[in-house]
Amino acid sequence: MHHKRFLLACLFLLSILLTACAPNMQVVDGPRIANSQNDLIHQLDVEKIYATAEELTKEPRVAGTESEKQAATFLTEQLEDYGYEVDVQPFTFERYVMPVKTDLQVAGSDDTFSPAPFQYSVSGTVTGELIGSGYGLKKNYDGIDVQGKIVVVTVNRTYFYELVLEASKAGAAAILVHFPGDDPINTWTLGEHSEDYIPALAISHEDYTKLAKNIGNQATVTIEGARVEQADSQNISVTKQPTAEQDTSSDIVIIGAHYDSVELAPGASDNASGTSVALELARMFKDVVTTKELRILFFGAEEEGLYGSEKYVSAMTQDEIKRSVAMFNLDMVGSADAGELAIQTVDGMDNAVTVSASQAYETLNGNSLSTDFGGRSDHVPFHEAGIDAALFVYAPLEEWYHQPEDTMDKLSKDRLLQVAKIVAISTLELTLPADSKE
Ligand code: BES
Ligand code: ZN
Repeated sequence: MHHKRFLLACLFLLSILLTACAPNMQVVDGPRIANSQNDLIHQLDVEKIYATAEELTKEPRVAGTESEKQAATFLTEQLEDYGYEVDVQPFTFERYVMPVKTDLQVAGSDDTFSPAPFQYSVSGTVTGELIGSGYGLKKNYDGIDVQGKIVVVTVNRTYFYELVLEASKAGAAAILVHFPGDDPINTWTLGEHSEDYIPALAISHEDYTKLAKNIGNQATVTIEGARVEQADSQNISVTKQPTAEQDTSSDIVIIGAHYDSVELAPGASDNASGTSVALELARMFKDVVTTKELRILFFGAEEEGLYGSEKYVSAMTQDEIKRSVAMFNLDMVGSADAGELAIQTVDGMDNAVTVSASQAYETLNGNSLSTDFGGRSDHVPFHEAGIDAALFVYAPLEEWYHQPEDTMDKLSKDRLLQVAKIVAISTLELTLPADSKE
């Protein structure tokens, strides 16, 4: 008896304490989500999200190909079905075609080498003297003559493309890049095309050890068939004007996801997941009374270098940019085998998106969600334009990131739905009229 009363008293005190210290803190399913919001969130249908992802993952959706176009058509038709007027924004971009052959031969050496190609390296066949230049930074070229030679450098906290540009500036004819330690998975890329590059190959630590004995000898670097070509892609978007009778503002809230994938990967996680969640949010929001403008964007050609989101932002007027108060970017939001949900911003700082999303997360899960660094997706151009933007992703990434194994069976319905709910709650918080939040 005594016992029970004591416990009750404790609970009572605790609740007073909690209310006093943290007036905003609520327990799971507490009254923080207004009834009207709760009703709306319950309209989110994870089966619809899943079905969209199934449709999208029938084949890879490589930017500039017919299959990316088909995905765009599918999204357009769905959005039209939901009653939206759909805006198609076509654009061209430079697509890189990987080399058909890469080779490294050292004169007078029996050693064989298996160099890896860099995405965006230029083609070329270069014969010249092998010369080491340390970490390949500007100062490493002081006092050495690399004109027409093949430089060998070791990566140390630099981007690959910087090493290629430094070597090029110093007059080298080709560069061999040694990455100590484990191979960086999927990251043999120079990021984007540049006229200033020289032929570049990545070499393993083992090859590097063999090469080190051959400094001063003649070698030949061969890269064949690499080129850039013009390709066509498109962004798909819908805009929902504010529909509330009062308290409307000129603010814009943006939800975005890229729908293209890399070659060979069906891209279930990357990024049929984000695309499907964004499409379901478009369906849910269609007839909701809102005080702000809502835009739902589907970007093309993200995987080739954020072309779609860059195009979208560059076509925004100064006024639209000023009015944009939040950009939610969904990229890889369903992976069963990745780490926990993360919110990433380009500068690692909190902003309107992270604040509202972590509140929503807390409402749903009872604990908070912190903000990480991360600039590997379509929120970047929005951030650079000065718009509060953040990326939703489960991190660390799963091991089949960008692999043919990125298939439907790797998606978790719970994880997809969790992100859909968080973005829905945050967006409602930002756009619902005050009187409907009771
Ligand atoms: N979804 C991925 C990357 C990603 C990684 C997102 C970690 C969130 C956290 C995205 O589609 C991608 O692969 N991006 C490229 C860069 C892009 C500019 C080509 C990447 O990270 O290599
Ligand atoms: Zn992605």
